[in-house]
Amino acid sequence: MSTFSMHTHTCGELRACNIDAEVTLTGWVWHRRDHGGLIFIDLRDREGLTQVSFDPDIAGEAFHVAETVRPEWPVKVCGVVRPRPNGQANPNLATGEIEVLATKIEVLNTSRTPAFQIEDDQELSEDLRLRWRYLDLRRPTMAANLRLRSDFTFAIREALHKRAFTEVETPALFKSTPEGARDFIVPSRLQPGSFYALPQSPQLLKQLLMVAGVERYYQVAKCFRDEDLRADRQPEFTQVDIEMSFVDQNDVMGALEDVLRDAFAQVGVQMPAPLRRLSFTEAMDTYGTDKPDTRFGMELVDVTGVFASSSFKVFSSAANTEGQVVKCINAKGAGTWSRGKIDKLSKVAATFGAKGLAWIAFRADGSVNSPIAKFLSEDEMDGVRAACKAEPGDLVLFAAGERIPTCEILGGMRTHMAKALELPLEGHDFLWVVDFPLVHWDEDRKAYAAEHQPFTQPNEDDLERLESDPLSVGSHTYDFVMDGYEAGGGGMRIHNAELQMRILRMLGFTEEGAKEQFGFLLEALEYGAPPMGGFALGLDRVCMLLAGADSIREVMAFPKTTNGNDLMSSAPSAVSERQLEEVSLRLA
Ligand code: AMO
Ligand code: AMP
Repeated sequence: MSTFSMHTHTCGELRACNIDAEVTLTGWVWHRRDHGGLIFIDLRDREGLTQVSFDPDIAGEAFHVAETVRPEWPVKVCGVVRPRPNGQANPNLATGEIEVLATKIEVLNTSRTPAFQIEDDQELSEDLRLRWRYLDLRRPTMAANLRLRSDFTFAIREALHKRAFTEVETPALFKSTPEGARDFIVPSRLQPGSFYALPQSPQLLKQLLMVAGVERYYQVAKCFRDEDLRADRQPEFTQVDIEMSFVDQNDVMGALEDVLRDAFAQVGVQMPAPLRRLSFTEAMDTYGTDKPDTRFGMELVDVTGVFASSSFKVFSSAANTEGQVVKCINAKGAGTWSRGKIDKLSKVAATFGAKGLAWIAFRADGSVNSPIAKFLSEDEMDGVRAACKAEPGDLVLFAAGERIPTCEILGGMRTHMAKALELPLEGHDFLWVVDFPLVHWDEDRKAYAAEHQPFTQPNEDDLERLESDPLSVGSHTYDFVMDGYEAGGGGMRIHNAELQMRILRMLGFTEEGAKEQFGFLLEALEYGAPPMGGFALGLDRVCMLLAGADSIREVMAFPKTTNGNDLMSSAPSAVSERQLEEVSLRLA
């Protein structure tokens, strides 16, 4: 541990067995206390904290220096380990049995007073933390997050390396790779008017590596996507990107499960084997999302049949329209909420696209409270009660309309109610969601859009409907879902140039357009491309969940704000006229 350092031990290392040892510690002054002629300094480094005491009768000069030091000054201390006096041991601290009686202290630098104290458990605005990120990272929680990320990344690299995966670096200056976001573009100086695009993922390049015979590839890869940022999205983020050839879907998923289980075990998390698989359809129908958290129930219940002849028109009209459904969830425990509190839920549902949110509260005294009760027959009420096993104290929330949007509304409400009811979420939840449709209809662009990406292998049996009914075509795809987050995704790829062109045409590309953007891929597929498939793990998201954090920014050293700013360096910022001229650009 302490080789190559100015110190003999770290600040988290000394125990009772080190008593009487002469040691040298380095670190930052965390807290300083003057106690009737004695000075105590808590010295902090990334490993922990050690109490150092200064006694003027033992080391006069060191004592006088200790009088002058301030929080966050880096110092080097020499001294002797001794037990803390009777009754002063601190069992909550790893080094709490001992202290170091200083013989010497060397001030290595001074520090201005930081904008905030370097402590966990204090309310700090995130902007302030990002402005002073190097100070924020000194806080024990952040130091631990960086360490955890490093450990997990190392573990997954090791797990892949052990299984004969080759790490290959691919360029960041490249051509547009479509993953559904906007590209960041970089102007070329040498070729005025031309631009590189930063890769949204190494997708095309890893497919080319399979054509190149690499067979098992991985890369801890930076990806760049210009999209609206959220707690689990950053403009640049990291994937553990993986691809294999001469494999089928079960080979790839089996290898991924092995690698992931191995890597999670290294950070103390047991992933079950084999992983549960839910089809996209099952996931939507049961949880109203393609990334369900299954640590709690509150599953969606189909009550379409109950309302076929209801006098509540919203329900009966959905029940009698092809493709529409009436569904509900039972939020156990919320049936005791006040009417006002329940009414507010329709605003929440609106954020998921709901036009209304009908509900029935089963009160503790056996009565029923509901804005739609007056429309419902006794049979319908009994039907609901039976379908969702409703008991006194339950709140049933309804949505009616087109199947997928209706499921999504209730999926959103399910997550919202779980939070509101503070349902206990223990351990981690892992599963695969498989069999996504190949495409969906993009209303904005008035075109079909790839559900994963345009290189995904469609189901062979569905190919005859590729042009006539694209929405009914399935695909060889799988998402890795952890604790209700999409933590990774992948699929089998098309390795046939003709089929690839057919898909691009269906997605609205002209032959020329497709060749211009993906010509190099289409060409490569004509040179003996093997069957291939792969996956990318969202490293930031997985580390966030492992750290128990609520934003990926907590596990990134220098993340950006939701406006895409770096508050420390003020990037992005203006460039000089000369720089613009060099790349032949003029600002509008
Ligand atoms: P996909 O686009 O699903 O697949 O990305 C894979 C995983 O990367 C993570 N992720 C993000 N994390 C943080 N910020 C973002 N903006 C962001 N966007 C995505 C997610 C996601 O599951 N080339 C394919 C993979 C493949 O098919 O092999 C791809 O990039 O956790
Ligand atoms: P209305 O008769 O339109 O006022 O609706 C009566 C109740 O049904 C209100 O509580 C609405 O929020 C709810 N509601 C309206 N449309 C829907 C819908 N599509 N799904 C579920 N509830 C709805």
